[in-house]
Amino acid sequence: MYRRLLQFLLPYKGKLFIAMAAMVVLAACTAALAWVMQPMLDEVLSGKNKTYIYLVPIAIIGLYIIKGTAFYTQASIMAFIGQRIIYDIRKKIYAHLTAQSLSFFTHRKTGELLGRITYDVTLLQGAVSTTVTSLMRDVMTIIFLLGVIFYQDWLLALLSLIVFPIMVLPIVRFGQKMRQASYDGQVSMGHMSSLVEESIGGIRVVKAFGMEKYERKRFKNITTDFMTHQVKALKVQALSFPVMEMVAGLGIAGILLYGGLRVADGEATAGMLMAFIVSLLMLYDPVRRLSRANNEIQQGLAAAERIFDILDAPIDVKDPEEAEPINKFSTEINFKDVCLTYPNASNPVLDHIDLNIKSGEVVALVGRSGAGKTTLANMLLRFMDPTQGGIDIDGRDLRSITQNDLRNQMSLVTQEIVLFNDTVLHNIAYGHEDIDREEVIRIAKIANAHEFIDKLEQGYDTLVGERGVILSGGQRQRLSLARALLKNAPILVLDEATSSLDTESERLVQQAIDKLMLGRTVLVIAHRLSTIRNADKIVVLDEGEIVQIGSHAELLEQGGIYAELYALQFGD
Ligand SMILES: Nc1ncnc2c1ncn2[C@@H]1O[C@H](COP(=O)(O)OP(=O)(O)O)[C@@H](O)[C@H]1O
Ligand SMILES: [Mg+2]
Repeated sequence: MYRRLLQFLLPYKGKLFIAMAAMVVLAACTAALAWVMQPMLDEVLSGKNKTYIYLVPIAIIGLYIIKGTAFYTQASIMAFIGQRIIYDIRKKIYAHLTAQSLSFFTHRKTGELLGRITYDVTLLQGAVSTTVTSLMRDVMTIIFLLGVIFYQDWLLALLSLIVFPIMVLPIVRFGQKMRQASYDGQVSMGHMSSLVEESIGGIRVVKAFGMEKYERKRFKNITTDFMTHQVKALKVQALSFPVMEMVAGLGIAGILLYGGLRVADGEATAGMLMAFIVSLLMLYDPVRRLSRANNEIQQGLAAAERIFDILDAPIDVKDPEEAEPINKFSTEINFKDVCLTYPNASNPVLDHIDLNIKSGEVVALVGRSGAGKTTLANMLLRFMDPTQGGIDIDGRDLRSITQNDLRNQMSLVTQEIVLFNDTVLHNIAYGHEDIDREEVIRIAKIANAHEFIDKLEQGYDTLVGERGVILSGGQRQRLSLARALLKNAPILVLDEATSSLDTESERLVQQAIDKLMLGRTVLVIAHRLSTIRNADKIVVLDEGEIVQIGSHAELLEQGGIYAELYALQFGD
């Protein structure tokens, strides 16, 4: 894990080098300030050498100026590197997430993923900058200060070093605790975002069922959980401070005793002891910071674990290494013995599907709810790859074409309409880089959308709100049809596009759909059979298998599922 994290530092080697050089200067200045105590005491205060009265203060001022400059240099560079790494990691996670196939998201909660990209990454950032800063600056400072104490009195130095192993013990112990507490905290944070996402997203249902109290209670349980983990982590951190201080105090006491005796015996000068003790005191800070850094590193590692868990998730729908570009769809689509079993499911959802769709045909897919219609349509857009068999478009397997090329050939209109919190204009022109306003208006008119858009407060520049809340279901659907029209792809996939609409909106939407279907190859899944009567071919799907294919008249004559469904809808 360390090595993987270091990889993120690699692009900033140059800057890192400068920061490290500044840290060396900083450490040397700190040590020099301690060392200056000796001439100060032995030469100046004892009255031996008057010129030192001026020299020492000037040296101190000089040292502080250099130290300050070095500090600023390393701190600002490290801040940049820390933020930059987080930026890189976030970008990487988001790119990876958006590259995932649909099945990846079936078992993950949006809020949870959100937590990882926000909270976990921030924890990691703390760890990355502190690690580098502390490990470099503080370790360097410790080395220099140790140099001073060994120079002053090596025997005493050796003695005082006995304290260090005692200090390392709590550092390691606290670190382990911190890591566990932090991991638990991150998991709770994930649950929290997920719950908020879900309950606020479904606030209408929550209110309609009077479930506010219930949701509050669920939320309370999770926040309590989070709080408990946080308090635990902070307590560990709070404890590490006095424990370290106590150990340090013991060390100082011992040195004062032994060192004092040596000065009294004339084996050392007061200045030496002073410089020695000042160095030791100065050592205390970096050592303590190192302990804190360890806690943060442990937190960061716990976060890194969850981040790498996402980054390591394999992408199961991948572009081929080398893909020849594809021409505009012109001949046929072939489902060849396609089987699909969802991950973690035992039974196949699609079972040996063979289906041919000719260019220009309108093929309707009907069947009971849960028959596998949506799944079949999703396969055509390659949201998932078949477990067995394959799908060809113009004689080429979907897996030999880039997803971009493939999906450029298709427009998808579904029952759940996805609008983004942006203007009407941008929602219609989603996916277009330069937007031709006139063209969007022309298309909106065809999609029966212009009239209502025109009546909106700011027309095409009105913000539609999250998921398009300010619009009615029918209006949203007409926007999404305008979007599909503007895309002008040769293949159109309609998945129950009118199912959730009232009769009046359905009429307007259906008119728009009819215009959208003109001159295109269409795979239409419709709940209302009246809308597909004129399809060239009706395919009846039942429990993942094709049970009937034919025209409306043929299927009615045959009897079977289609005739049953039809009778059910029209009370024959
Ligand atoms: N992501 C999924 N993971 C597991 N099972 C799924 C998933 N999506 C759909 N299913 C199951 O596959 C079957 C077919 O679903 P679907 O294609 O949506 O049916 P239809 O669109 O015909 O109503 C259903 O039994 C459904 O429960
Ligand atoms: Mg469906």
